[in-house]
Amino acid sequence: MGTEHLYSKGLNDECYTPRYAIWPLLDFIPEGAIVWCPFDTKKSKFVQEISLYNEVIYSHCSVKGQNFYHYEPDKWDILISNPPFSGKREIFERALSFDKPFALLMTVTWLNDSGPAQLFKGKDLQLLMFDKRIHYENRNTNNGSPTFSSAYFCWSFLPKQIIIKELRR
Ligand SMILES: C[S@@+](CC[C@H](N)C(=O)[O-])C[C@H]1O[C@@H](n2cnc3c(N)ncnc32)[C@H](O)[C@@H]1O
Repeated sequence: MGTEHLYSKGLNDECYTPRYAIWPLLDFIPEGAIVWCPFDTKKSKFVQEISLYNEVIYSHCSVKGQNFYHYEPDKWDILISNPPFSGKREIFERALSFDKPFALLMTVTWLNDSGPAQLFKGKDLQLLMFDKRIHYENRNTNNGSPTFSSAYFCWSFLPKQIIIKELRR
């Protein structure tokens, strides 16, 4: 058996992150750092909120030549976004390959999978977790409430391995 079974082939999730889920990140972005948001357009709340304090470069697969798997801007310091959950293994593989800090929003249930343990073996996975669930925009929800908790899965980004913050919705 090859490695195909390790990669999820589901449909991309077109769900958008609300501003309040981005605010807890802002404390950890160093002054002067250039932030790359690779799953984002100018409408993204990541782009709008982070660019109040830092230079932001954004890219999105809807723009020719900006597929995350092949594209990288010339100059950037930190990668931050909410990627499509369905491509998570390949996305984290590529994020780790850059050897630069990142924070990517992901379902906490992913920890139950073999993916994070394999990808982060020998590397310090950091988690920015929340006391409440994030209500994404345009997502199928269960009575208005998402069925999973989310956290930022980070590398070389937080000052310690696990931080839990309050979400102010
Ligand atoms: C979960 S949505 C999040 C959008 C935005 N980052 C936010 O948080 O509001 C992921 C986005 O990534 C885009 N996307 C999917 N595959 C991509 C790829 N290979 N390269 C760049 N963008 C991609 C999808 O079209 C979708 O708009």
